[in-house]
Amino acid sequence: MPKIDWSKLGFEYTPAAYHARSTYKNGKWGPLKLSRKHEISMSIAATCLHYGQACFEGLKAFRGKNGKVRIFRPKENMKRMNDTANYLHCPEIPEKIFIGAVKEAVKKNIDFVPPYGTGGSMYIRPLLIGTGSRIGVAPADQYDFVVLVVPVGAYYKGNIKPVDAIIMEDFDRAAPHGTGHIKTAGNYGAGLHANIIAKKMGFPIVLYLDSKSRQYVDEFGTSNFIGITKNGNYITPDSRTILPSITNKSLMQLAKDMGIPVERRPIAFKEIADFAEIGACGTAVVITPIGRIVYADKTLEYDRAKCGPVLKKLYDELTGIQYGEIPDRHGWLMDL
Ligand SMILES: Cc1ncc(COP(=O)(O)O)c(C=O)c1O
Repeated sequence: MPKIDWSKLGFEYTPAAYHARSTYKNGKWGPLKLSRKHEISMSIAATCLHYGQACFEGLKAFRGKNGKVRIFRPKENMKRMNDTANYLHCPEIPEKIFIGAVKEAVKKNIDFVPPYGTGGSMYIRPLLIGTGSRIGVAPADQYDFVVLVVPVGAYYKGNIKPVDAIIMEDFDRAAPHGTGHIKTAGNYGAGLHANIIAKKMGFPIVLYLDSKSRQYVDEFGTSNFIGITKNGNYITPDSRTILPSITNKSLMQLAKDMGIPVERRPIAFKEIADFAEIGACGTAVVITPIGRIVYADKTLEYDRAKCGPVLKKLYDELTGIQYGEIPDRHGWLMDL
């Protein structure tokens, strides 16, 4: 059993025992292997190092109320990873390999899945990288698919606390016809500088407008934008330059189940001052409520003391399903 103080876990890299791996060579995927190593060796001319052939994903496994470990919607992550792979000219990963590697990585590290009641979970990170050599810009002829897992702690220890967001005037996340809709490493490299400046200014999260007109809301640096209007509708942007979030897709379904009207359409920045609640949603924390948005000389204030009631209800419903406290009526959780 690993010696882990579950109450102290954050969202940090804590090495687990094994990772799963398959290599693509000569036009086909090789057998799935489990390794205890935490390093990977590759050509110094690998395309993931030079030309950004790097796709990744993020999903979670939860230890439920009955002690059983289940994985949340892994086929959705597989589809999204294959969309990223297609865009970056990497080979698609067959279901047998993707789901097999995710399940094996969780099973082999089962003691690293935080106990029920700690609020923790196992973060699963699939990675697909070009490991073949190229010196001119071109897709590689060799790839590695790696699945590593990390135990992560409860993000909210106690109450869900709203955070302040900033829209940076001088930085964009995604070009109008660029790569905002896929999960590729380069997008996060491009956002790092703005992130660091925002943090120094006291804003843990950056909100991006569409980079073409700067009139519409796109998404946060690592999460989708969701709003609750004053008449109680769930609203989220329809944009080609945002990542299709699996959490957002799940929350939209839960909102519909609760009889909350769901709107997915372009959202003008000027509309959001009137929203009752705003949240950032993603795998890491489900929903981060936003208490304040600062943009140049404008400051929009929401409830800074607590998460709004509708977002809280959606948060409780989704986490309740994930931890097996509420029946999995949509079949979102996969057994090992
Ligand atoms: C840019 C971006 N948007 C949104 C999300 C949320 O997506 P998901 O709910 O699938 O984690 C993420 C995290 O993966 C992200 O990096």
